[in-house]
Amino acid sequence: MVDRQFEGAVAVVTGAGSGIGAATARELTARGAERVYLVDVSKETVDKVAATIPGAASLTVDVSDANQMAEAFETIVAESGRVDVVVHAAGVDDPVSKQWILEANESGEPVDVIGRLTDDMWRRVMAVNLDGTFHVLREAVRAMRGRGGGAIVTVGSSSAFDTLIGYPHYSASKAAVHALTQSVAKEVLPYGVRVNTVAPGPVDTGMAARTPAHLRAAMAAGPARGYASPEELADTILYLASPGAANVVGAVLLSNGGRFTV
Ligand SMILES: NC(=O)c1ccc[n+]([C@@H]2O[C@H](COP(=O)([O-])OP(=O)(O)OC[C@H]3O[C@@H](n4cnc5c(N)ncnc54)[C@H](O)[C@@H]3O)[C@@H](O)[C@H]2O)c1
Repeated sequence: MVDRQFEGAVAVVTGAGSGIGAATARELTARGAERVYLVDVSKETVDKVAATIPGAASLTVDVSDANQMAEAFETIVAESGRVDVVVHAAGVDDPVSKQWILEANESGEPVDVIGRLTDDMWRRVMAVNLDGTFHVLREAVRAMRGRGGGAIVTVGSSSAFDTLIGYPHYSASKAAVHALTQSVAKEVLPYGVRVNTVAPGPVDTGMAARTPAHLRAAMAAGPARGYASPEELADTILYLASPGAANVVGAVLLSNGGRFTV
């Protein structure tokens, strides 16, 4: 039964203060999860979302900080005794390079992101998107191994395949998320831990709201479905986390409304 498929589960969702993570946390509870820990770097937003979900707890954590991530999982295991499902949706785009793309479009000049990308801009995207995924995977596996296993879903991106002009750091970070997730998936299968990733196309969230209008229009055009809702992504993510996906291991599941295939 899809409607109670996470009955009694203890779940952790990162990036749960907004967008895809918030929708996934809500849906986990709706499908029977007993306790959902909402993790986000933004205390204000994650507390607000958690207050609307029965039985939820919120933790303010920067996923790029290994110590904070380890402490969060220690707290969760100490309180709940186990972790059954981890969804890692925390991630960042780069508003500065998106602004440069917009300015290039308005002036008719070619985009110049790579020539102006600073070390700090590169590091920020890599620290959150790639290092953060490493920290979450490491702590999730440590928590699940020896405690009955579990399911982990990371969030990559279609932009790792259909690399957009002006997104070099973002696309590279997400391609690395896919490879990291796949390698870990094969390694931890013997421990009863099942790991997959979802690669969303455009989704209507705070991140998408920062995308320049001409790119948004291009993504919404054509026969593909255009912008998905965060709830539709939560459905894809929770399919991967559910018992119905028992035979799905190390998948990079495109959820992009038919924008392209791989
Ligand atoms: N929206 C899209 O079109 C789209 C497409 C492909 C992939 N994605 C990916 O989906 C995931 C969710 O994005 P979204 O669209 O819901 O965006 P969003 O901006 O609505 O939500 C992202 C959440 O992550 C949190 N976060 C950011 N940095 C963090 C950190 N260091 N530690 C902990 N939390 C942090 C933010 O505070 C925010 O609540 C991201 O990994 C994103 O890269 C989004």
